Amino acid sequence: MNLEVLNGMLRPKSIAVIGASNKEGKIGYTVLKNLFADGYSGEVYPINPKDKEVQGLKAYSSVLDVPGEIDAAVVIVPAKFIPQVAEECGKKGVKGLIIIASGFSEVGRKDLEQAVVDTAHQYDMRVLGPNIVGILSNSDNCNASFAPCLPLPGKAALVSQSGALLIAMDTSTYTRRVGFDKMISIGNMSDVNFGDLVEWLDADENTACMSFYIEGLKDGRHFMRAAREAHKPIVALKSGVSAHGAAAAASHTGSLAGSGKIYEAALEQAGVIRAADLNNLFDRTLALSLQPPMQGDNMLILTNGGGVGVLATDAAERAGLPLRFAPEDVQTELKKHMPEFGSARNPVDLTGMAGVEWYHDTVRYSFAHPWVDGLAVLYCETAMTIPQEIAESIKQAIDESGVTGKPITVSFVGGEQSEAAMQWLLEQGIPAYDAPDTAVNALAALREFAQGRDTMAKPFVPFNDVDEEAARAVIAEARADGCRNLTEIESKAVFKAYGLPVAQTRLATSEEEAVRLAEQIGYPLVMKIVSPDILHKSDAGGVKVGIKNAAEVRETYHTILKSVRAYKPAADLHGVAIQEMAPWGTEVILGSVNDPTFGPAMMFGLGGIFVEILKDVTFRVAPVSPEQGLKMLSDIKAGAILAGARGEAPRDRAALADILSRYSQMIVALEDEVAESDANPVLVYEEGQGAIVVDARIILKKK
Ligand code: ACO
Repeated sequence: MNLEVLNGMLRPKSIAVIGASNKEGKIGYTVLKNLFADGYSGEVYPINPKDKEVQGLKAYSSVLDVPGEIDAAVVIVPAKFIPQVAEECGKKGVKGLIIIASGFSEVGRKDLEQAVVDTAHQYDMRVLGPNIVGILSNSDNCNASFAPCLPLPGKAALVSQSGALLIAMDTSTYTRRVGFDKMISIGNMSDVNFGDLVEWLDADENTACMSFYIEGLKDGRHFMRAAREAHKPIVALKSGVSAHGAAAAASHTGSLAGSGKIYEAALEQAGVIRAADLNNLFDRTLALSLQPPMQGDNMLILTNGGGVGVLATDAAERAGLPLRFAPEDVQTELKKHMPEFGSARNPVDLTGMAGVEWYHDTVRYSFAHPWVDGLAVLYCETAMTIPQEIAESIKQAIDESGVTGKPITVSFVGGEQSEAAMQWLLEQGIPAYDAPDTAVNALAALREFAQGRDTMAKPFVPFNDVDEEAARAVIAEARADGCRNLTEIESKAVFKAYGLPVAQTRLATSEEEAVRLAEQIGYPLVMKIVSPDILHKSDAGGVKVGIKNAAEVRETYHTILKSVRAYKPAADLHGVAIQEMAPWGTEVILGSVNDPTFGPAMMFGLGGIFVEILKDVTFRVAPVSPEQGLKMLSDIKAGAILAGARGEAPRDRAALADILSRYSQMIVALEDEVAESDANPVLVYEEGQGAIVVDARIILKKK
């Protein structure tokens, strides 16, 4: 991506306001006024076909009449004129169009939007929007928007898909005391999307943390790649969980994927920190923009009140970071700074008697202790203490500790004095909150940031013992026969080409052949109908298990054909599969879909009621490494069963993780062919005994 062009658009040295107006109450009036009011020092060129002067500035009837260069054009004219405006801007050499106007794809005019983007690209211009509020940048004193003011200065950057929300957040930065350097409204994302902005903001010297409000991504893979490569934290509030594709899906995986789980998975895989709601987005942004990541799980809480300590403990658990007791040496030292009835475990309760000195000494000692990975300091305003003095003692202790690579958050619960003390702490770069659970949740966000980096440190490495050619040959043959539903035998052949362990299965087209294959494979056996027209074989009476001898093979061969013919007379029957009967193990399910935003994605869950009723499944965007595969196993609620619950031997999770990783490679490599697939069931045995795909299914894409 050309960061220079985006730089021109988002940190412009000169701006044309196309549709600048003298009429108060018009957006074209407000945008121009905002540029002056907030002190923008670059060149500003109002463009208006009728007025020679706008708000005291010389106006031009077209950008082509402007004598100087123009970096960005803010476009505030009705949509129908914008293709022409884009053409003129292109000729002028403008770098980017910031299109505030609505009336494009959001109202069904995708054609108009595309025409503007096509023209822009012809001239190497980028397009932000349309249907946006504009851009705001404190470091450039640039308010090229109709938001009321520049936000409270700070180190975060907000990118919002909702213009209204951006405006609302803009003014509330002052009451919430969360500082932003930039706010960018992204609207319809006709061209510039979240992925582009991750790359640009990661390189921007004034941004420490990216804070996103996302309704839907356009190029999910680009976003994931950019987010993974970013060095700065990204915190996102994702709304509008989509049910796209769910209704049309032919498989379990498809219907389960419709619940937004793929979005959740994709954001997690990309290392994006999630915000639960708008407040949480602000709170987490504050900590992430001011403090370093938390490198381990050991959070220590210091407090002068038992109640806030308990609230904080609950919050830590909810945020997935349960508190651990501090080690003996830490407890022994901390006990020196509290009365007999205090507690040095964790939370460390200094009691209501705690004053400036105790706070100072315990903060200083704990922050420097190697066991402590992050510190949450809580304070309830008492008549025996002055909040500002407590705040200063905390800051002094942190400075004296000499530690810079660890995070701290603070909560003061109290009145005006506490408010003022927190304001002071924020000015010192220490995130301060008015509730203990918020301070702890913010610290957990800093832990999530570090964890995301850890996960991404072990990327997927493709297996090289795979035979893509063989897999494609099976698919080509099925296509030649006009089939989109591969039979079990064909599906297993594709799986096998990717090194997936499949139960031996052969096709018999006569009773004699069935017996011969049965003798070769050995008893007991399973026999199943093979037909591209029968997806649910058991329902059609097309499956028999536990066949023990040749006589049963002969009889079953006929019974199966008869049942299936009765069930679906027109079905194309290829024959009967003779399959080794794998010993029973723990039943799990793998499935894949092609997500419209993220491409090939996979699901994992335990079989039976776990997937059918409890919907206890986890998703990932493919591919996944075996390490990420292992994480999938523990992600599901029933994961403990695989780990060996209630005296059962642990299952072979390493073999299963390997299967997940190979399967993910398969669905990515065959993305152009495979629409959906599943392995159901896969039987998993005790540790060291492996796992086997008993049944497999692949549905090809329509071509
Ligand atoms: N070049 C330059 N100026 C032009 C051109 C042109 N090609 N064509 C028209 N103009 C001038 C007009 O003469 C007018 O100037 P004037 O005020 O001196 O008469 C000015 O540009 C604006 O044109 P109007 O036709 O008066 O259009 P209006 O201002 O009523 O509306 C607007 C334009 C604001 C772009 C409107 O079409 C629109 O899209 N509104 C919605 C914007 C919006 O809400 N966007 C973000 C959504 S996010 C959220 O929901 C918060």
